[in-house]
Amino acid sequence: MKAKIIGVGSCVPSRVVTNNDLAKSVDTSDEWIKTRTGICERRISDEDTSTSDLALGACKKALAAAKFPAENLDLIVVGTTSPDTLFPSVSCILQYKLGATKAAAFDVSAACSGFNFALTIGSSFIENKTYKNVLVVGADTLTKYLDWTDRGTCVLFGDGAGAVVLTASENEAGILASWLKAEGSLGYHLIMPGGGSRDPEQKHGRFIRMDGKEVFKFAVRALEESIVGSLKLANLKIEDVDLFIPHQANIRIVNYTIKKMGLSKEKVYVNLHKYGNTSAASIPLALDEALADGKIKKGDIIVLSGFGAGLTCGANVIKWGG
Ligand code: COA
Repeated sequence: MKAKIIGVGSCVPSRVVTNNDLAKSVDTSDEWIKTRTGICERRISDEDTSTSDLALGACKKALAAAKFPAENLDLIVVGTTSPDTLFPSVSCILQYKLGATKAAAFDVSAACSGFNFALTIGSSFIENKTYKNVLVVGADTLTKYLDWTDRGTCVLFGDGAGAVVLTASENEAGILASWLKAEGSLGYHLIMPGGGSRDPEQKHGRFIRMDGKEVFKFAVRALEESIVGSLKLANLKIEDVDLFIPHQANIRIVNYTIKKMGLSKEKVYVNLHKYGNTSAASIPLALDEALADGKIKKGDIIVLSGFGAGLTCGANVIKWGG
């Protein structure tokens, strides 16, 4: 039994903020951001829009693309580290708003690796025959946790959501392999110190703190390790892959991986110039755009690989369609 993706959807806020817009309020420039990250603009949600609002938009589109009624879902898993509230979870809000009355629902906290973790969990429930139909979501609004005076972080992130509908399938298409990893010893390099039980009053701040250089080093190692690890589990080689969709954090991380692993640039999908790093949304958002761009056809082998706070990383190998 495999878990097959039968519908994909995404949603981003309408407000576009360019590098030049940021340069009006922080000591940076379009030139610096483009050269060091590849990002040109990002979407930023307004005060009244929370993570579940973007997630709901993505889920409705994914369910419509799959022509699948929400009331038949067995499970909703959401990868997010910017939930509307500590509880209830974003997945429970979605369960209610979608009318997915039969579905169990929970969130997974793996930051930018959240979608890979959620997809692995969702597909495992199908493979072990616990559930047949699962909605998997990656959604974040990290711009709400940015220190707009810290130029080392505020230029990197954007908001968004992406979702896929999984169903049980006995043919050869579906999730072929999943590979996940955590390196908790490195967690202090990327941290949201305030707001948790260690600091509920946010005395240590409510903003993301990051050692960019250390995270960069982990990211290039993690991308390679997760691609190699997941392909090994799927019994496939790099040459068998038709499309790589890496976490969209920084074009230099992507290019470094392309060079180091000898990947063909044409086989690596990139849309980070438009959205920046949308955390758990980045991979399903790129998957949705790659499909719309006609980059994916039936029978293609696709690798989704990501990394993030924790530190965490993971990859999923998919045989498309069928
Ligand atoms: N605009 C202009 N200058 C900036 C800047 C900005 N937005 N951010 C940093 N700088 C400056 C620094 O202050 C430093 O100046 P100095 O030499 O006078 O001290 C200089 O640019 C170089 O900074 P540095 O931090 O060495 O740059 P970098 O090449 O490492 O790039 C990142 C910084 C954050 C873009 C890069 O480290 C990165 O992308 N890391 C990974 C982050 C990531 O992906 N996080 C999410 C993981 S899911």
